[in-house]
Amino acid sequence: VWDHPFLWGSKRTGPDLARVGGRYSDDWHRAHLYNPRNVVPESKMPAYPWLVENKLDGKDIEKKLEVMRTLGVPYTDEDIKGAKDSLKGKTEMDAVV
Ligand code: HEM
Repeated sequence: VWDHPFLWGSKRTGPDLARVGGRYSDDWHRAHLYNPRNVVPESKMPAYPWLVENKLDGKDIEKKLEVMRTLGVPYTDEDIKGAKDSLKGKTEMDAVV
């Protein structure tokens, strides 16, 4: 499902992301998203440097988590209630990592 990079056309040009969370450290993911060339010199993946600038505003976060829950993500009522607070001061980079 998480084929990567996104499958435009028929040629897959990157790895499968399904279990990547445990393979690299958070610092590796931060460096790689900020500029893939910093950790994989030959990388052709685009850089996402703005992720460290963009702060999360938490807008509609409860609703979003409720929708995810209807799709099968096991969020608890407490997760949903605490969501807005847990995003305080966080960036889009924190969220993606
Ligand atoms: C927000 C969007 C993206 C995220 C979160 C992301 C995340 C990742 C992660 C976690 C890996 C390591 C996978 C592994 O080692 O199994 C990776 C590798 C890679 N990604 Fe992405 N990626 C994104 C967008 C893209 C796009 C748009 C492309 C190509 C057009 C791309 C191309 C690649 C390639 C070629 C690799 C292999 C390692 C490297 O060359 O850096 N990625 N990506």
